Parts: sequence; C-alpha cells; structure tokens
Amino acid sequence: MSILIKNVLAVLEKDLDFSIEETSIYIENDIIADIGNADYNADVIIDGKNKLAIPGLINNHTHAYMSVFRNYADDLPFSQWLFDKILPIEDKLTGEDAYWGTMLGIMEMIKTGTTCFTDMYIYINETGRAVDEAGIRVCLSRGLVGTGSDEGGRRRIDEAKQEIEYWKGRGNGRISFIAAPHAPYTCDDKYLLNVIEFAKEYNLGINIHLSESRSEVVEIYDKYKCTPTEFLNKLGVFDLNTLAAHCVYLTDNDIDILAEKNVNVITCPVSNLKLGNGIAPITKLVDKGINVCLGTDGAASNNTLNLFKELQFVTLIHKGTEERADVISATEGLKFVTSNAAKALGLDDKIGKIKTGYKADIAILDIDKPQFYPRNNLLSALAYSTCGDEVCTVIVDGKILMKDNEFLTIDAEKVKYQISKIAERLLQ
Ligand code: NI
Repeated sequence: MSILIKNVLAVLEKDLDFSIEETSIYIENDIIADIGNADYNADVIIDGKNKLAIPGLINNHTHAYMSVFRNYADDLPFSQWLFDKILPIEDKLTGEDAYWGTMLGIMEMIKTGTTCFTDMYIYINETGRAVDEAGIRVCLSRGLVGTGSDEGGRRRIDEAKQEIEYWKGRGNGRISFIAAPHAPYTCDDKYLLNVIEFAKEYNLGINIHLSESRSEVVEIYDKYKCTPTEFLNKLGVFDLNTLAAHCVYLTDNDIDILAEKNVNVITCPVSNLKLGNGIAPITKLVDKGINVCLGTDGAASNNTLNLFKELQFVTLIHKGTEERADVISATEGLKFVTSNAAKALGLDDKIGKIKTGYKADIAILDIDKPQFYPRNNLLSALAYSTCGDEVCTVIVDGKILMKDNEFLTIDAEKVKYQISKIAERLLQ
C-alpha cells in the first residue's frame, strides 16, 4: 500500500525548529519513504491543495472511555466529582461499555488530529480491541490502586501482566504498555514498591497522576511528612522513565527533583481549570529543561479529547497568569503534542515528526477556511486559530483512518447508537 500527499503545505522540522514548506509526502506501507518528490505512482493520491499536513498529535494523558461520562458530573469540586460521582458510576461499567466508550474517544481524537494516546484505565483488553480495530496508536496502562497488603492490589498487577502478554506482537507495534500506579494518594508506599518491581520485570515506564490537587499534597504530607514528588522520588519511582500527569502544586525542590530525574510532565490545563485544581507552573518547568507534554485527561473532566483546545489553553493561560506574552509560544506548545510527547514515550525516533523513515502518522487540515487567511504564520494558526474540526484526513501507521471527514475503520453511527444506549442504562 502506498500513498502520495501531493503538493501540500507541511509542518516539517529543521534543526529542532518547525518550518512550513510546500512539498509532497510519499508513504510506503507504514513508513514515510520520501519527502519532496512527487513522481510516484501511488495506490492513493491525496491532492494537497489548500491543505496543511502536520505530524499526528499525541495525547499523553487520557482515560479514553471516560467519554461515556461526558457532561455527567460538571461544576463540582474535585473530591465530590471523583468520589461521589465518577467512582460509583465507574463500578457500573462493563467491558463492552468500555469498548464502545473507547471507540467514541478514538473517533473524537481522530476527528481532531490525534494519532496516538497514552491511556490509563481498567478494561485494557477492551480498550486494546477498539484501538486494534480503529487503527490508532496507543500506550496502554492498567490503572493500579492498592496497598502493600491487600489482595486487590496484587490481583490488578497480575491482570496487567496478563494483558501485556496477550497484546505482545499484535497491531503491528501500534500498541505499547506502561505501568500505571494511579496516584500517591491511591497507592501506599509498599504497593508502589510492588509496582516498581513489576515495571522493571516488564521493562516498562511509569504513568502516574502527581500533585493534581491541594488536598493530595496535604494528605501525603500528613502521612509521610514530605511532598508527593519527594515521596515518589524516595521510593525510586523516578528511576524509571516517568510520565507524571498534572503536577499543579510543586515546590522549587520538587521542580529540581523532576528536572534531575528527567521526569516527563504531562500538563492537562483544561481538566485542572475545570475541576478547580489550579494552574501548573509550566513556564518554570520549561525553563528548567523539563520535557513537558500535553494531555486532555478524560472527557468527564474536560469535556473533550481535542488537543487543539488544550494547545490553545496552554499557550494562553501562562501568558495571562504571568502577565508575560512571551512565555509558551505557539511552537513551544506544538512540541508538547509532537516531539516532546514522542520522547516521553521513548518513540522519538519513530513518531512525532513528518520525517523520512518515521512512521506515517499524519493529520491533514483543510485550511481553505476564513480563520486561515491570510497565511501570515501557519504555526501560530495551529495554536491560536484552529479549533480542530479543520482536520479532514488522518493517517496512522500508513493506513488512512479518516478521509475527507469519513471514518474508514469505524462505523460511526453504530458507535453513537451504542453510546446513547449505555448512557441511558448507566443513568437509570
Ligand atoms: Ni487522569
């Protein structure tokens, strides 16, 4: 299978900086085989006129099938939202619900240019099945909660191991894994040591929520007399490649630890704002050289999985709170969802760029729209003018998943029908 995207404006990377060039992109099987030469007899030719090709975006923190809880629990304080509304309804979910919820999440991600996501949840095999059928790329993780002594915690680790074994070698390498202790307030010190042992045994990184709310910091301090970041560091969590989501409340010492240990920080600005959790000190983290990425978090706390919305928030809120217009530029933000995100996953030699030899994970935007004229700076436009529904065609692993706004691997009507039925049942 070969695809030629002919005479298209493309976001390429030159010497670590983005550039926009008119070019042609030739894809052979799952790989970008050539850039710049239009003389190919490809199986599929995509006319690039008035189109912008960008590296597929990477959402490094979400819970895809939370899409079934969209707009179910809004305008509530974080602990009420989590403990009174989300956790009880989560208990009612079946594996089949998780499959359809993941499909809905994937539809929304594809529609808004996301080609890879990092997921943490419970029904991993069902999430994997949806990913496998839809053709998107994923880093999966079973959310682990427990104490060093409870049977449930041990069982969840055993299930995570079985899921990894099951998916090994499937999906042409599109499905990878990471170990996911849920958070310092849901895993005690002994359990975290068990998770580290599991991660080392399977050569996995760590995916965890960290310092998301003020109450978490207070709770950990009361229990262990240190910050959540110091707590994880003492246990050795950061000796493994770690994706730490949120990181809203950090001391200067915490920031030094994250920098020294090369922890990847996944900021989720919309979720943090919506749950009243505050604003992460992203400018400080970037200044310290920390690898910052973006996540949407689940659709129950956002309420979309649209990375363009996230990109707009992350590039705007820090300018506002710091009263400095020169922090977190459009191109800086764009790296959060492309090359930085790929680096966090250890996939920076495969995805996150439109580059010869890289995986063909590309989103194509229709820029023949008023918000893209005049074309003074299309990189700025991606952060400040794009809403996401300009994405018309999406390719992952060399396969077209959406063409001219039509899903090719997902029965969209069936997904919407099933989701409506599930929501009706859950809310009964
Ligand atoms: Ni989360």
